[in-house]
Amino acid sequence: MNIVRCDSAEQAVRHAAELLRAQVARSPKSVMGWATGGTMARLYQELVTLQQQDPLDWSGVRSFHLDEYIGLAADHPQSYRHFLRHQLMAPLGLQEAHAHWLRGDAPDLEQAGRAYESALAQAGGIDLQLLGIGHNGHIGFNEPGARLDTRTRVVRLSPRTLAANQRFFAPGEVQPQWAITLGIQTILESQQIVLLALGEDKARAVAAMAEEPPSELCPASALQAHPATTLVLDAAAAALLTCKNTERSALPAQLPP
Ligand code: PGA
Repeated sequence: MNIVRCDSAEQAVRHAAELLRAQVARSPKSVMGWATGGTMARLYQELVTLQQQDPLDWSGVRSFHLDEYIGLAADHPQSYRHFLRHQLMAPLGLQEAHAHWLRGDAPDLEQAGRAYESALAQAGGIDLQLLGIGHNGHIGFNEPGARLDTRTRVVRLSPRTLAANQRFFAPGEVQPQWAITLGIQTILESQQIVLLALGEDKARAVAAMAEEPPSELCPASALQAHPATTLVLDAAAAALLTCKNTERSALPAQLPP
């Protein structure tokens, strides 16, 4: 794992945004795996700001997404399809024709999961998968206990995840208890992974992910086995890492003499 520690959340968000832009600048038809949530909302806002300052052509990018609630229609404001279309795709000019969606309202969810995996295989796999991390160490909606060999499937959300995401739902609004998510194995097959974590409430999960022996109790710890994962952290999210040296940080492009 490369670990990039930034002094502030703003710097971490900027760094992650620049990694994404560099990927698309290098390879305009990249297959990108998008994530959602509060952290990603900040990141996508930053991408929009950078886009206004220095436009980049996103129209060739092929999009997949990480997870979706079950039972919400695509135009439901809390569906992740809605989130990505409005906060990422429309403002940056990503093409709907190049987007693949996990349909949490599909009549046959198992079939939808299989179809998604085949679309992914046909696209040649994910070039860059973006991730956040849950307080319980989940990636996507792979909750503690998820096995390493899991692929896209239906899962039940843990009480901790339900509590964390309640803030996005209006009082009295029905909050889905189930979701469909890329599996751990599907995620690990991505060429490159960028995980962004901000804030002290993520510090415990970050330490378990990066420094404790990999365990199904912290699904994100599976990323230790991935050859090209970059963790982008602000100081608060990195606070419980015991390895304080920069040995594992990304090297700058140009080393000083
Ligand atoms: P958050 O979600 O950015 O809203 O904290 C992260 C996640 O659950 O992966």
